Amino acid sequence: MAMKDAQPGTIHLKDYEAPRYLIDKTTLKVEIEQDKAKVYATLNMRRNPESDYSDNCSGNPLDSSLDSSLVLSGQQLSLEHIAINGASLTTEQYVVTEEELTIHQVPDQFELVTEVIIYPKQNTSLEGLYKSRTMYCTQCEAEGFRRITYYLDRPDVMSEFTTTIIADQSECPVLLANGNPIGSGKVGDGRHWATWHDPFRKPAYLFAMVAGDLSVVEDQFTTCSGRIVDIRLYVEPKDKDKCGHAIQSLKHAMTWDEQVYGREYDLDLFMIVAVDDFNMGAMENKGLNIFNTSCVLAHPETTTDAGFQRVEAVVAHEYFHNWSGNRVTCRDWFQLSLKEGFTVFRDAEFSADMGSRTVKRVEDINLLRTVQFAEDAGPTAHPVQPASYMEISNFYTVTIYEKGAEVVRMIHTLLGPELFRQGSDLYFSRHDGQAVTIEDFVAAMAEVSGRDFSQFMNWYRQAGTPRLSVRSEYDEKAQQYRLHFKQSCEVTKLEEGKQQQGKQKNPYQIPVKVGLVTEQGDLAFSASDEKNPREKSQVIEITEPEQTVVFEGIETCPVPSLLRGFSAPVKLDYPYSREELALLMSHDSDGVNRWDASQQLAIQLMQSLMEDYRASKPLVMDDCLSQAYAKILSESADDRAMQALVLTLPSELLLAEISDEIDVEAIHQVRRFLCGQLGSILSDQWRDTYHANISTGSYIHNASEVAQRSLKNLALRYLANAKTEDSLALVQSQFDEADNMTDRLAALSTLVNDPRPEAAVLAMQALESFFNDWHHEPLVLNQWFQVQAACSLPGGLSRVKALMEHSTFDLHNPNKVRSVIGVFCNSNPVNFHCDGGEGYRFLADQVLALDKLNPQIAARLLTPLTRWRRFSEQKQALMKGELVRIMSEPKLSSDTYEIVSKSL
Ligand code: BES
Ligand code: ZN
Repeated sequence: MAMKDAQPGTIHLKDYEAPRYLIDKTTLKVEIEQDKAKVYATLNMRRNPESDYSDNCSGNPLDSSLDSSLVLSGQQLSLEHIAINGASLTTEQYVVTEEELTIHQVPDQFELVTEVIIYPKQNTSLEGLYKSRTMYCTQCEAEGFRRITYYLDRPDVMSEFTTTIIADQSECPVLLANGNPIGSGKVGDGRHWATWHDPFRKPAYLFAMVAGDLSVVEDQFTTCSGRIVDIRLYVEPKDKDKCGHAIQSLKHAMTWDEQVYGREYDLDLFMIVAVDDFNMGAMENKGLNIFNTSCVLAHPETTTDAGFQRVEAVVAHEYFHNWSGNRVTCRDWFQLSLKEGFTVFRDAEFSADMGSRTVKRVEDINLLRTVQFAEDAGPTAHPVQPASYMEISNFYTVTIYEKGAEVVRMIHTLLGPELFRQGSDLYFSRHDGQAVTIEDFVAAMAEVSGRDFSQFMNWYRQAGTPRLSVRSEYDEKAQQYRLHFKQSCEVTKLEEGKQQQGKQKNPYQIPVKVGLVTEQGDLAFSASDEKNPREKSQVIEITEPEQTVVFEGIETCPVPSLLRGFSAPVKLDYPYSREELALLMSHDSDGVNRWDASQQLAIQLMQSLMEDYRASKPLVMDDCLSQAYAKILSESADDRAMQALVLTLPSELLLAEISDEIDVEAIHQVRRFLCGQLGSILSDQWRDTYHANISTGSYIHNASEVAQRSLKNLALRYLANAKTEDSLALVQSQFDEADNMTDRLAALSTLVNDPRPEAAVLAMQALESFFNDWHHEPLVLNQWFQVQAACSLPGGLSRVKALMEHSTFDLHNPNKVRSVIGVFCNSNPVNFHCDGGEGYRFLADQVLALDKLNPQIAARLLTPLTRWRRFSEQKQALMKGELVRIMSEPKLSSDTYEIVSKSL
């Protein structure tokens, strides 16, 4: 029997069993009342002919009685009535626990009717049916449907849903569910009803319904086969003016999926609802996506460029799930990356096509290297296809999403675009309407290409980031150039036990896209085999622990450009000199590697400065970086996006990730020093760049204007870091005069982080006037919170505690929690890790408070504490102490319990 406060159990992939029963039809009636909702469910069920259990009795005499029992999931439901084939069950015929309803004997085919009561207004977990501000809405992925009714809440049970909602007409004039509306009417007492039918069978995690007083913005899309699809975006009335960008993004995504994947939308209606209280960014419920307002609303006055891009990406991502997730879904939650990794790859390619490909790629590489590599090296490391979990909500990770997308990208690289498309066509047609596995996806790719993917599967099944060491050799006489590759994958702490039992990590198949660069640009070459056509870039497949590749006919010694486009998610190690990096920065034809060379150059410099800092030596600027920067700044301004990328120093988070022992203070001081030096040495050029990139017209959101603003605001930050006299006036006037949130917020954040006393006064005033202007807009307030929570000047913890006392802060709203607590603990390392461990105590206190309200958010927030092994002994002890304190709490959620127990 499952007990709520017992230690949660572990679920293993190897134990997968097909469901014993199927649900052909699901008919729901949800009556929303003042303080509760009644849910009537009618399930047309039958024994699953494909279940092993039906014909395979293990000889255990208990099996024959278990055989006809039915176990349904259900949480926080109060069961009012239950009947099978019209006959009410007596209490002897079933058992209810905190998590399950077991009916002792059911026929082979039957109709099950249940009536339960739930309490949406008291639901602070934001799973199941809950109330967000003025509206009722649902979130069912991964296992939220069991908080609405008793059900086989697993993705391989797919059913045809019909949903009726009944509610007060004035409080909830709009009633929505998946699919098409098939009826509506009044019931008297000021109440009304609406019925929706979804013709596509789906798992319960894709169910959604909404009831509330919503405004709608409508549009239409004509599909490639000429069908007209109605688009409806439902928002609170005050947000009607912020819908245009999401609707345009949706139409772009619909067109793109037709053109790039041959996928057409399948219903006549596509709805999006925006809600303020939401655990994630958005959810792909069939025909009725539900979005966090932060991922759908956009307006130049309230939304930054990054915000606009986020909306475009999330709208596309959820739309793309209609095929990669909904039409073809997951067999079980171990296959989560089947839909998420693939869909992230799809949305990344879409964003690359809509804006700047290199910028999008660099953003994703940064995320992978800072957050995913750190996860892969920490106590919660797991393969893209995990082998086990306690709480599935904890597995919506950067590994499942970002590394999963990189793995799909490698398949794309190995196959090339045409074969990849054939593979995806085969996958979609073969498995339409099915719940399948990652192996099924890879099998389709293998079949169209004739390739063997058995070694490639290590990417899905092994945790950890492989390291790829490369050394080169040039033989002038033979005109031969050799690259020696050596791969290894460090065993993480947690895996050590298993390793000692003789389970070694297997070598990966690594696609390495290589170019050979000289002062004259890229050389044309063919690797190993002279019969290959000579090209400027080639994908080499590394499959062995050690492997050598020979390039013939190489007339001058080149600098290797390795892993172009970041062709594999590995840690690359090649002994580049500063001169070689400078050469790649200006001559590599691969934009990603030009950027990467600038990062490597800065990292080399920062690492040596950190040594000086720790040895209490004075910090002295080496001019290799400033010279390289000067060169980039003086180049023609035709690719400002690229310039802004190359001129941005690696983040503190990245420097932490590549450190053996993280010295938070040294990283922060060295980065500030370098920003200041680069600011003052190049101040004239930054000033020119600033002025040259002030936009003449009013705000437009397009790739070139975005690039211009990012370069301009970067220049402004360098000037402020250099403490030039004019910089305060520039910042202040930009803050006062900006016609858009990107420029206003950039100015505000620059001001807030300026250590000069005269800046502090201006920052206070700016924060106050910003608040007065925007206190009625929750999404802008979140940005106001974020800027302050991220401020790295001393005293961060007390500032954050004060923010939490602010009247507009609310621990129930995940966006507020992320903006204040999340930003402070993840993006303000010097303050979070301040001596004495007060930051750690603060985080643990918040996790304990949140665990009672919203376990998913509590568990997620905990991440920075789990990384204690990376810090000094003194910090380790303080961090561990807080984890132990959390662990000793008697009634922890399974979400938080899993994370804490794995990290101790
Ligand atoms: N299916 C997820 C949303 C989700 C995740 C719901 C976990 C419940 C539990 C959705 O498709 C998704 O992945 N959303 C992302 C944004 C996306 C652009 C990567 C999110 O919510 O962060
Ligand atoms: Zn997704």
